[in-house]
Amino acid sequence: MAITILSPVECDRMRRAGRAAAATLAYVGSRLAPGMTTAEIDRLVRVHTEAQGGRPSQLGYHGFPAAVCVSRNDIVCHGVPSPHVRLVDGDIVNVDVTTELDGFHGDTSATYVIGDAAPAARALVELARGARHAGIAAAVPGARLGDIGAAITKYVGDDGSIVEAYGGHGIGRAMHMEPHVSHVGRPQCGHRLREGMAFTVEPMINAGTSAVRTDADGWTVRTADGALSAQFEHTVLIGPHGPEITTLLAEGEPHTS
Ligand code: MF3
Ligand code: CO
Ligand code: CO
Repeated sequence: MAITILSPVECDRMRRAGRAAAATLAYVGSRLAPGMTTAEIDRLVRVHTEAQGGRPSQLGYHGFPAAVCVSRNDIVCHGVPSPHVRLVDGDIVNVDVTTELDGFHGDTSATYVIGDAAPAARALVELARGARHAGIAAAVPGARLGDIGAAITKYVGDDGSIVEAYGGHGIGRAMHMEPHVSHVGRPQCGHRLREGMAFTVEPMINAGTSAVRTDADGWTVRTADGALSAQFEHTVLIGPHGPEITTLLAEGEPHTS
């Protein structure tokens, strides 16, 4: 299957879906607090997504049992919300929201610091945020997919390790589409980026090694060495002159991530 090129009308629908996902993430992010269960996060995501006329894309996706992925501390991605897991002061927690609105999807995540986290944990979070930014900045028309991962690799340097087992993905009328977007690409390799392409940039950065393992639940992905992991994600549209992030808040909405 080829990579989809979106029409201007489809790009507008991507912007609407992206804004809805961003609004839900900001809403939930501003309510996180020690003592809250991760199942409460799931409930907030459902309520807020539906209030906007959207649907949580992740709910039931390949059997995923929740509306949102919530990944604490050593969980790299795909953490399953639970009424038995509470946020604790000093945690770092990634909340990954994907919203389908009017047939299109927006996918965005942020890692939040709960209360008073150790300096090393805060530094990892900022490293992951900067890695996303570096990757997006490389997504200019005419560049190649590998340039994104190469930029992230250069940015992260020896300060953390980049997860290779999972990457970004094309997105549009489905949550996961071609192409796969590696966060460790090689410069000038892979598909050429063209106006109208849409994909996510979502680097997962580990404090220890890049190795991961999956829990017996079949979803929860953790660092193999138990060290912390942080991640940030945006959905990006390739515009005529550069990347456009669809998963930003509309003007006037409070910005929390
Ligand atoms: N939002 C996730 C991503 O960034 C998708 C997780 S799939 C799920 O690609 F089934 F685990 F929800
Ligand atoms: Co994604
Ligand atoms: Co996501």
